[in-house]
Amino acid sequence: MNAHNIAVIPGDGIGTEVTPEGVLALKAAAQRFDIDLTFEEFNFASCDYYLAHGQMLPDDWKATLSRFDAIFFGAVGLPDKVPDHVSLWGSLLQFRREFDQYINLRPCKLMPGIKSPLADRQPGDIDFYVVRENTEGEYSSIGGKIFEGTERETVMQETVMTRTGVDRVLKYAFELAKKRPRGKLTSATKSNGISITMPYWDERVKAMHAFYPEIDVDQFHIDILTANFVLHPDWFDVVVASNLFGDILSDLGPACTGTIGVAPSANINPEGAFPSLFEPVHGSAPDIAGQGIANPIGQIWCGAMMLDHLGHEEAGKAMLDAIEAVLAKADPNVLTPDLKGQGTTRDLAQAIIEAI
Ligand code: NAI
Ligand code: MG
Repeated sequence: MNAHNIAVIPGDGIGTEVTPEGVLALKAAAQRFDIDLTFEEFNFASCDYYLAHGQMLPDDWKATLSRFDAIFFGAVGLPDKVPDHVSLWGSLLQFRREFDQYINLRPCKLMPGIKSPLADRQPGDIDFYVVRENTEGEYSSIGGKIFEGTERETVMQETVMTRTGVDRVLKYAFELAKKRPRGKLTSATKSNGISITMPYWDERVKAMHAFYPEIDVDQFHIDILTANFVLHPDWFDVVVASNLFGDILSDLGPACTGTIGVAPSANINPEGAFPSLFEPVHGSAPDIAGQGIANPIGQIWCGAMMLDHLGHEEAGKAMLDAIEAVLAKADPNVLTPDLKGQGTTRDLAQAIIEAI
C-alpha cells in the first residue's frame, strides 16, 4: 500500500496558515521515500463555511470523507463569529464519533532547543505517549436531571465502560509499547475511589497484559499520576487512560514539553474502517492569525504521525528528525516568535522541508 488519498481540512485562523506548510513537508517526505500521496482540500469544518451555509459540514460529509485514507486537519473555531460549542460539536466531534476514532494519541516529547517549564529537564528526559480512550467512559450522555428547581434537585451522569471499548484501547496501547525500546506501559486508574468501573479497568489491564508478557506494566491513581508527570516525567513510556483521565493527561503531558505550537495529536481508528484524523493540539489562535507567524511544527509533526499510521514509519521518523535538527540549530532568523525567534511560518517550515 504505497498510494494514499489525504483529505486536507485547514479550518479557521492559523489552521489555514499551517496546513499548507504541513502538506509541503508531507510532499517532501513522500518524494524522498517514494510514497504516492494525493491531497484534496475542503473548506467545510470552518466558521466561514458555517456563516455561508448555516452548518459546519455539508450533509454528505461522511460519504465524502470516507473515500480518504486519512484527514489532515488544521484547527477549527472563531469564537467572535461562531460559538465554540457550535463549531467544535458541528465538526471535529462529529468526525471522532462517526468515524469511531476511539484512540486519541498524543506524543509528549521534549524537543531540542525548547525549554521545558519543568526545571532542569533535557531532551531525552521526556519522551512518552498518552493514549486516551476517545468514545466512552466518563463522557457518556446517559443520565438526567429531575426535581429541577426544588430541594430534591437531582443530577446524574453515568460512566460507561464496555469490554469492547476498554479492551480495544488497551490493546492499542500494549501494541504501541511493544514497538517502543523501553516497552513500558502505565495505566491511569482510580480504583481506590471509583469502586466499580475503575477496578474493572484494572482487571482488563491485567487480562490484556497476559497477551503481552514482555511489556513492563505499572499503574497509578490519577491524582498521584498527575503529580508524577511533573516530578518524574522520565518514568513514562506509554500511558493509557480512560476518556476523562486521558483528557487531563493529554493536556498536562504536552504542557510539560514547552510550547503549544509544536504538539501534535491523532484521532485514530486503528482497524482502518474509517479514516483517522491528524491535528495539532493548538487551536486557531485568532490573536496571531493573519500575521504569518504561527509555528508550523505541530502541523508538520501531525504529518509525521500520519505517515507512521499509514505504514511509512521510516518517512514519519525522517520528518520528526528534520524537526529536531532544525530546532537544535536554534537559528533565531528561522524560529517563530513563540520560540523566541523572528522567523515566519514559511521560514520555519522551509527549513524543515529542506532538512527532510
Ligand atoms: P489556541 O491554541 O488557539 O491559542 C492559545 C495560545 O497559544 C494563543 O496565544 C495562541 O497565539 C498560541 N498559539 C497556538 N498555536 C500556536 C502556534 N502554532 N504558534 C504560535 N502560537 C500559537 O487556543 P484558544 O485561544 O483557547 O482557542 C482559539 C480557538 O481555537 C477557539 O475557537 C477554540 O475553540 C479553538 N480550538 C480548536 C481546537 C481544535 O481545532 N482542535 C483546539 C483548541 C482550541
Ligand atoms: Mg482536553
